[in-house]
Amino acid sequence: QAIDDLIRALPKAELHVHIEGTLEPELMFKLARRNGIKLPYASVDEVRAAYQFTDLQSFLDLYYAGASVLVTEEDFYDLTWAYCQRAHADNVVHTEIFFDPQTHTVRGVSFETMLNGITRALSDALLKYGMTSRRIMCFLRHLPEADCLATLEQAKPYLERIHGVGLDSGEKGNPPSKFKRLFQRCRSYELPVVAHAGEEGPASYITEALDILGAKRIDHGVRCVEDPELVHRLARDKVPLTVCPLSNLKLCVVDNLEKHNLRDLLHAGLCVTVNSDDPAYFGGYMNDNLLACRAALNLSDDDVVQLVLNSFEASWLRDADKTRWE
Ligand code: HPA
Ligand code: ZN
Repeated sequence: QAIDDLIRALPKAELHVHIEGTLEPELMFKLARRNGIKLPYASVDEVRAAYQFTDLQSFLDLYYAGASVLVTEEDFYDLTWAYCQRAHADNVVHTEIFFDPQTHTVRGVSFETMLNGITRALSDALLKYGMTSRRIMCFLRHLPEADCLATLEQAKPYLERIHGVGLDSGEKGNPPSKFKRLFQRCRSYELPVVAHAGEEGPASYITEALDILGAKRIDHGVRCVEDPELVHRLARDKVPLTVCPLSNLKLCVVDNLEKHNLRDLLHAGLCVTVNSDDPAYFGGYMNDNLLACRAALNLSDDDVVQLVLNSFEASWLRDADKTRWE
């Protein structure tokens, strides 16, 4: 189909991808071997077979376990470079990557190690592919606010290399209001804020992310439809939603893609974008997500072009000086 060729050919921006979620089973095994770490799986096929999720938590358990193979700067480089190559193949020309420092610092991996590996790969992607990027540090919301505040203090020497902050991990029972002081401090450091909200949590978490955390962009946000006034506000204020359709399908946020509200939200005038979230776990990168939505929701050429334009509009690409050439 011509529209699918259009999807593949268009330059795109990705705004919601967790670098730890791009760890393909093959690389997981390679890094485990390199670092002498024993995995609870016998083969790559066994790992893939384990990726049958019933909700966000069932995924997070495997995602955090998988990340334990990331130890050295080289590991973070290899992980990030593999993602850049794969994203480049999908004509992603700009990417805003999440990383979860707390997943690594508890295991004794330093900020320096993580950031050096990630930054070096992104610099290579700029040189080799002309791919621009930003790095967004996410806090794990299942942990106490005090832990997150300590992580922010640890990050202080590296803020030059961190373009913004986010909030991820288990949403249920961990409302944005739990992190009011943390994000107040982030804003005092002039770090732009995004937050996962309204993925599994209620619409009120989206409102809290906006009003209490000062979020500029909402990650997922699909449960906004439960509050029509909020939908109106998101459209009026042009608050972007970084939607991840295959993720929503795999984590049973929706029963099937035909029922996904992406097209409705787009037609309601919201700045909706399509993203891959944790592509190694959810079975699809950027183009797979767009192609699956096009088929399931019968998206038009205009819909596809609008989604792609939105990805640039919602990006932080305008801060051109934040593109690092080192
Ligand atoms: N939601 C919350 N936390 C996450 C996700 C997600 O989709 N992916 C990685 N961490
Ligand atoms: Zn996410």
